[in-house]
Amino acid sequence: MNILILGSGGREHALAWAVKQNPKCDRLIVAPGNAGIAAVAECADLDILDGTAVAQFATENAIDFIIIGPEAPLAAGVADDTRAAGFLTFGPSAAAARLEASKAFTKDICDACLAPTAAYARFTDAAAARAHVTTTGAPIVIKADGLAAGKGVVVAMTLTEALDAIEDLFATPAGAEVVIEEFMTGEEASFFILTDGVNALPLGTAQDHKRVHDGDTGPNTGGMGAYSPAPVMTPEVTQRAMDQIVLPTIREMARRGTPYQGVLFAGLMIEDGQPRLVEYNARFGDPETQVLMMRLGAQVLDLLLACAEGRLDSARVNWADDHALTVVIAARGYPGPHAKGSVINGLDRMPEDSRHMVFHAGTTLRDGLITATGGRVLNITARGDSLPDARNRAYAMIDLLDWPDGFCRSDIGWRAL
Ligand code: AMP
Ligand code: GLY
Repeated sequence: MNILILGSGGREHALAWAVKQNPKCDRLIVAPGNAGIAAVAECADLDILDGTAVAQFATENAIDFIIIGPEAPLAAGVADDTRAAGFLTFGPSAAAARLEASKAFTKDICDACLAPTAAYARFTDAAAARAHVTTTGAPIVIKADGLAAGKGVVVAMTLTEALDAIEDLFATPAGAEVVIEEFMTGEEASFFILTDGVNALPLGTAQDHKRVHDGDTGPNTGGMGAYSPAPVMTPEVTQRAMDQIVLPTIREMARRGTPYQGVLFAGLMIEDGQPRLVEYNARFGDPETQVLMMRLGAQVLDLLLACAEGRLDSARVNWADDHALTVVIAARGYPGPHAKGSVINGLDRMPEDSRHMVFHAGTTLRDGLITATGGRVLNITARGDSLPDARNRAYAMIDLLDWPDGFCRSDIGWRAL
């Protein structure tokens, strides 16, 4: 079959790499793609936020299956447009993607289905929000309601920080409404579930490192590394998360006439064996997908097809007793201002096989040379029989890299090791 993946990051490179290994995949196109993706798929220039353009491209290229990577096209209704045009599509409708696109909506769903989450209040007025945090005090969490590319959440440890965050977030486009939440303590994990709207299949768990520097210090980023599985997601915690959070959410979405089809990414906070929902995302995590795909391999295409075709009741995930770890190589300065355009050397020295992969997140080919274009640039990913084995393999690959403008954390996986 001919498959189209939308997106251009490390997540999409990992998806493309896994999908391409499945014998069902004939032609694979990724739009817009990047320099690494170009080694496993055709890259196409396409406005992935324009559902009509995506459907037209799919018609012209005889596409049989569309996989949507990032949240922006989902929130823009691209899955609605491609399904309406008759294309089998993996990814939720815009109405269902509100689980990521609106934090206030997600809180309503949690209330309706009694899913455990942080206590909260919603505000459309800065003065009322200020009065609220002055009464409750810090630590407290301030969130813009809408999509803010990871910049819409402030974990305020002091009242001053909380008041500043209220000013800042109300001033952003995503902050017409602000949600103020109880600060939860515990350990975070990413839990990925495939659902066709009725059936749900736990796909896997991971943990990422959001802070830029070693020891989980410095500013928040999109993620500096990840590993799978997440030890905190024991079978008991996983079962509780399914029974108390995920399944009630899926039923509530269906009851409202907006069934959720695609991958549901539950960000959980676990304390004393009890999971609580931090947030939902309507897509795969980045860089969590890189470690999940490393472990799942070719079967992921069969699973995504079963999800899109409503056949998850008979689908099974074949897990090996293995571990994967990915280290993000970012441009010096990230998540602040950073240079772009420098040449990355040493990639040809790195092994690439079923245990070692370099997934590209922000690269392009210029004059035949791989150059950096983004903040997060490469995901050095390895699979091993144990987490230390996977970690050692990934860092041994990094020793072969020659890119003075890049940096990485040296302690990915520390919490689990
Ligand atoms: P979110 O975009 O909602 O996942 O928030 C980004 C990060 O902020 C999360 O991964 C958590 O580390 C942190 N966070 C969000 N909400 C809370 C909360 N209620 N309590 C503690 N930490 C939180
Ligand atoms: N790594 C977290 C995310 O994809 O949102």
